[in-house]
Amino acid sequence: MIKVAFYDTKPYDIPSFEKYGKMRGVAYKFLETKLNEDTAELARGCEVVCVFVNDDVNKAVIEKLYGMGVKLIALRSAGYNNVDVKACFGKIHVVHVPAYSPYSVAEHAMALLLTSVRRIHKAYNRTREFNFSLNGLTGFDLHGKTVGVVGTGRIGKIFIDICRGFGMNVLAYDRFPSAEGDIKYVPLDELFSESDVISLHCPLTAETKHMINAESIKKMKKGVVIVNTSRGGLVDAEALLEGIKDRKIGAACLDVYEEEADIFFEDLSGHILNDDLLSRLISMPNVIVTSHQAFLTDDALNNIADTTVNNILSYFEKDGICDNELCYRCGNIEQCKKERNERCF
Ligand code: NAI
Repeated sequence: MIKVAFYDTKPYDIPSFEKYGKMRGVAYKFLETKLNEDTAELARGCEVVCVFVNDDVNKAVIEKLYGMGVKLIALRSAGYNNVDVKACFGKIHVVHVPAYSPYSVAEHAMALLLTSVRRIHKAYNRTREFNFSLNGLTGFDLHGKTVGVVGTGRIGKIFIDICRGFGMNVLAYDRFPSAEGDIKYVPLDELFSESDVISLHCPLTAETKHMINAESIKKMKKGVVIVNTSRGGLVDAEALLEGIKDRKIGAACLDVYEEEADIFFEDLSGHILNDDLLSRLISMPNVIVTSHQAFLTDDALNNIADTTVNNILSYFEKDGICDNELCYRCGNIEQCKKERNERCF
């Protein structure tokens, strides 16, 4: 049996991982706690740790895990900004789930956008109280509007197709533009100034951190709608709030938040929220927040479990290529991953 310490377990994780792992020789130690320096010890006796987006896999954690004989970190997410991959080099291999259902995230982005621009969240609450007034619920058509898509990878491309289905004009920006799909790429500043809706679908890197900030907001159209289903750190939330207060930003749809780690995925309804910025954002009538929910469909959960188990088995069963390994030999993970056909080390 391959023993896996499974951090930050939620009830919805267990059925799919049991289904894909148990029969194939993978045994889990399901832990509710997140991985950090204090909790790394709980992985003792396991060869693999399985982590999610808010587990903090920093250098000190990696040293601890390595010292205890952990060989593999299996991310059950696409994003990997919470793992110090450079510190893993030569010690612990890292695998992720590059795509589990890009449709789940792209469809959630559109669900947020439609909810926001047609005020569905307001209408839902009103009619539950038998308030059938339409005052204040005026929206706008997406048809004919311009959407700027930042990041045209798996999710961004599907989001573009969905937007085209609505009759929107699509502009895009990507550091590595794609030749497929007849996408109109423009410089980032042009995307900011021309778009009625801006949707973020790129990873969080040093370059993309706070790409939505006071300066970029100044370049945008009045009334722009910002949709972020990628990573909270892409948006400077203070600047976003200022933009909303100045009536520059028309609406924000956020599935992610920079400081979400101790908040999202938890039921804090009986508590006083310590994050004033998030409280203020949530209090705005034109802000919709979901708590990192975009991935959460049955289809995606099954794909995540299946791919993660395959990743783990490929490490232990095969020589050579380790499926979906994040390679960090040269420091440029995305490029290196595309070109490599052997293990990182
Ligand atoms: P992907 O790797 O297929 O696409 C990312 C795209 O961003 C690529 O085309 C890449 O060239 C581009 N990119 C890289 N650096 C850039 C930069 N500096 N500026 C502009 N574009 C840049 O990734 P995928 O699967 O489409 O996921 C996108 C993001 O969605 C992930 O990084 C992840 O953070 C987020 N995500 C969020 C989920 C949620 O539940 N809210 C679930 C899954 C992913």
